[in-house]
Amino acid sequence: MTTSKRLYHITTFGCQMNKADSERMAGILEDMGFEWSEDPNAASLILYNTCSIRDSAEQKVYSYLGRQAKRKQEEPGLTLVVAGCVAQQEGEVLLRRVPELDLVMGPQHANRLGDLLEQVFDGNQVVATESINIVEDITKPRRDSTVTAWVNVIYGCNERCTYCVVPNVRGIEQSRTPEVIRAQMEELGRQGYKEITLLGQNIDAYGRDLPGVTESGRHQHTLTDLLYYVHDVPGIERIRFATSHPRYFTERLIRACKELPRVCQHFHIPFQSGDNEMLKAMSRGYTHEKYRRIIKTIREYMPDAAISADAIVGFPGETEEQLENTLKLVEDIGFDLINTAAYSPRPGTPAAIWDNQLSEEVKSDRLQRLNRLVSVTATQASQRYLGRVEEVLVEEQNSKDTTQVMGRTRGNRLTFFTGNIEELKGQLVQVKITEVRAFSLTGERVKNLIPSA
Ligand code: SAH
Ligand code: SF4
Ligand code: F3S
Repeated sequence: MTTSKRLYHITTFGCQMNKADSERMAGILEDMGFEWSEDPNAASLILYNTCSIRDSAEQKVYSYLGRQAKRKQEEPGLTLVVAGCVAQQEGEVLLRRVPELDLVMGPQHANRLGDLLEQVFDGNQVVATESINIVEDITKPRRDSTVTAWVNVIYGCNERCTYCVVPNVRGIEQSRTPEVIRAQMEELGRQGYKEITLLGQNIDAYGRDLPGVTESGRHQHTLTDLLYYVHDVPGIERIRFATSHPRYFTERLIRACKELPRVCQHFHIPFQSGDNEMLKAMSRGYTHEKYRRIIKTIREYMPDAAISADAIVGFPGETEEQLENTLKLVEDIGFDLINTAAYSPRPGTPAAIWDNQLSEEVKSDRLQRLNRLVSVTATQASQRYLGRVEEVLVEEQNSKDTTQVMGRTRGNRLTFFTGNIEELKGQLVQVKITEVRAFSLTGERVKNLIPSA
């Protein structure tokens, strides 16, 4: 083995789960003596952590991969790894398509990167996609931020939404124990992190697979219990969680969010469609009435709570009227943010082979209509911040205006204000909001208010 330093590069596609996995894999690589390279072309190990949620995400991977596969023909020492959801979905097929690959590994294997690479360096081409019990990672992740961090609480998903690849690629639900989660949060608190987002594809399923029931017969470990268990970790000023599923969302959880001061009053609850027939075809397990009731209850407890969601338009068979039911829900609720998507048929999912698919033209037209509405309603939702003093946790310099710093309010609104990042990074600052836009705010720092004598 040579002693010159080996550089690695990771490109991450997809959701927060993938970002969290990438940080752990980067930690493993650094433990093995690799050093980060911003430039993929300077690296001798390249890892693509891939996303398969929509076809566009998957195609992006192939174009990136094609370039590096070509480079490998000139530099046979290059190690090429495909991890994540496309790796899981395609498995061996990916090796046949790109024979230059050294390692194809599904998301459940992220923490095993070290062992798998040993096999590669022994001269093997490796595919790791079998389903396994996820092992705890003992390496220190290389985190992108020094202020905010993700903590996985449950892996996988047992739902069967008819459009979605996640259960196929992420496997069945596996919860981490409350003790392991709290210990990790304590470590992050000691390292100076201020905000933690607890992660799960369906975070309301947390604990269902852990042993133990209460006297009343409910699972002993629920997301609500977890929040009570971790809310006071020293140093952690803010706790968020995502993603919530309307089917399992409880009033107990809402109460906990109101009661626990460090839990942010911000809810990410995808509704996907505002039409009951569509929701049924999607196998979502709730009606738009139930969804509305959840939001109403949240607002009864916390009138100012921020609400964000995901929505899909152009699902097979969606009529104009059904689309309008979605638009109506968006108007009625007044969301702070919605991640919108046109339906994309995915391999191995039920809806992909139905014969009532809509044309790309109809789908993209509907997406534009939804997006226009979302930007109007988000702008309206932003108005309530104007003139208010909000607590902002400073994360970064504003890359477009270096005299400004960027952070988020407790409601997760991106906020900019004049300040020095060296002084303010990781600080909770009171900011008076002077300008509002659909998805971001601008303000001025308010000097610490001295209480009048
Ligand atoms: N677990 C979360 C979301 C997971 S995927 C939930 O249950 O809501 C993130 C988002 O991608 C979904 O909320 C959905 O809006 C979108 N999505 C998933 N599959 C899709 C598909 N086949 N086409 C278009 N959008 C999709
Ligand atoms: Fe996909 Fe549904 Fe699971 Fe969310 S709950 S990850 S949309 S199957
Ligand atoms: Fe994509 Fe996998 Fe996340 S498919 S959205 S990276 S779970």
